[in-house]
Amino acid sequence: MNPRTSIDGPSRRATLAGAALTGIGIPLLSACGGDGDDTAEDHSAVPAEAPRSGVAIASTADIGVGACAVYPDLKLVVAQPAEGEFKCFSAVCTHQGCLVSSSSEGEIPCRCHGSAFSLEDGSVLEGPATSALTEVPITVSGSKIIRA
Ligand code: FES
Repeated sequence: MNPRTSIDGPSRRATLAGAALTGIGIPLLSACGGDGDDTAEDHSAVPAEAPRSGVAIASTADIGVGACAVYPDLKLVVAQPAEGEFKCFSAVCTHQGCLVSSSSEGEIPCRCHGSAFSLEDGSVLEGPATSALTEVPITVSGSKIIRA
């Protein structure tokens, strides 16, 4: 049995569909890198491309509840697993280094080989990746999501 089946139950899908119908949008900021050439060797560190502390990464309006948005230039993905709760992770997939994709489906997908990561903590929901995405510390000030 697919361990994600219980996570993606009908009530969760209905909730996400309702969010989509109410206009909570996901910016189409990225697609998978696809070529695997930007493989990061050290997934335990904050990405070198991550902005310095105090720099705005995104607007809270860009990320729907149960969704994530990828910022490819920064190689970061920002998620909102619950209303008003924002998380930021390296967008570099821990499998072979593709960039993960924006999504409104309750997970952070990597379209290269099908891995999926948790919006809550970046942990692996589905392989082939075996390591979590690296969390990047952020703070929220008004409508701005800022690198902590
Ligand atoms: S690079 Fe992401 S699943 Fe393979």
